[in-house]
This record gives sequence, structure tokens and C-alpha cells, in this order.
Amino acid sequence: METEKLKQLAAEQAVEEVASGMIVGLGTGSTIYYALLALGEKVRNGLDIIGIPTSKQTEEIAVQQGIPLSTLGEYPAIDLTIDGADEVNPTLDLIKGAGGALVREKIIAHASKRLVIIVDEGKLVEQLGSNFPVPVEVVPFGWGSTQIALNQICQDSTLRSDFVSDNGNYILDCTFDSIADPVATEIAINNLPGVVENGLFINRTDQVIIGAASGIQTLKRNG
Ligand code: A5P
Repeated sequence: METEKLKQLAAEQAVEEVASGMIVGLGTGSTIYYALLALGEKVRNGLDIIGIPTSKQTEEIAVQQGIPLSTLGEYPAIDLTIDGADEVNPTLDLIKGAGGALVREKIIAHASKRLVIIVDEGKLVEQLGSNFPVPVEVVPFGWGSTQIALNQICQDSTLRSDFVSDNGNYILDCTFDSIADPVATEIAINNLPGVVENGLFINRTDQVIIGAASGIQTLKRNG
């Protein structure tokens, strides 16, 4: 089955978890796109939710789909967030941010009672850092100095070209041989002056729904 179909199957399964009355965090990316389509259809059929988007891109699509939106300021507690990921390891830790929305995604994940991640099976890895760099959002001021400091932690980093985040910042994509200690790595990166946030999402995921050629698989934290 082609990857797009696997993303769509995972997204549609996740949307089944959304119930009327919920405040729903809306992730960013090509997999979430299918969730927004499915949610839009449900809203048009009477589902009563309020969505909190993690990016301007998602906000635009959600508006097109007629999904009512609000802000974290209005609704600081989110019932359920559905988001994508670039890599998922066996303990459900993630690399996120290839789409550049990692800061808002992490803020919304942190404000959520439940975080459900949807991926196709190609996103599963044994060790984080195997296929994707870790995106690190940095403030533009002195970004070159921040990069020098960052390169003491990672193997190498590249400034994402022609990219400014929704928050007006740059992204440095950091490659690693492997990330043996994701908890320590997340903290070490965020401890550097100039770093806003990084794309390691550790101990945050409650459930991963995987679109696989053999069918939908669900992994749950602690079980
Ligand atoms: C956005 O910044 C990212 O965190 C995405 O959620 C992640 O890159 C997954 O995107 P796709 O669903 O497009 O692969």
C-alpha cells in the first residue's frame, strides 16, 4: 500500500477518538492533513469540538474544513492532541519538527491530557536520530554562535534554508551518529542560550497509531 494511504488510515483511526465537547490540539504535517479532512467531515455532521492549531498552515486548512478554532490562551487545557512525527522509537519517544512547527507542537503537547501520534510504518526506528536530524529552533540573533555551541552536542548542523518559523526564528537541523540518551540530549540542547526548543519529544506520547501494510497497529505507553 502506498505511504499516503497508510497515513490516511492512521489519521482516520485517530479521529475516532475525538468526541463532542473536546478541546483538540491539531498537529502539523502531511499526515495530520488527513486527520483535518476527517475531522472537518465529522464537524459538518455535527461533531462539536474546538481545535487549537499548532501552526499557521494547520490553521488555514482547519478553517477551510470548517473546524471551529481557538487559542491556548482561551483554552489552556487540551483534552486530546493528534500530531505526526518524523521518527518513533520503541518507548514512543519522538523526533518532530521536519515541518518546522516543533515549538508550538511541544507547547500544545505539554498542555494536553493525551497525545496521540499518527505515522506510517516508515517512521518507526530502533534509535532516534537514525533517519532524521533533530530540528532546533533558535533565535536569529547570534545564531552562528548558537550553532557552534550546538555542534559540541551533535555531530553536525545545517541552517534550514529559506525558512523562518511561525515564531520568527531559524531552525538548525542537527545530525547525530545515534542518540543514546534522548532525555539528557533534549535537556542539554535546551540549556544553550539562543535555543528556543528542540524536536526531541521524550516521555510525552500516550499512544501511537501506525498505518502499516499489514493493517493499523496501536502502541500505548506502558502497554
Ligand atoms: C511538523 O513540524 C512536524 O513535527 C510534523 O508533525 C512531522 O514532521 C511529521 O510530518 P509528516 O506527517 O508530514 O511526515
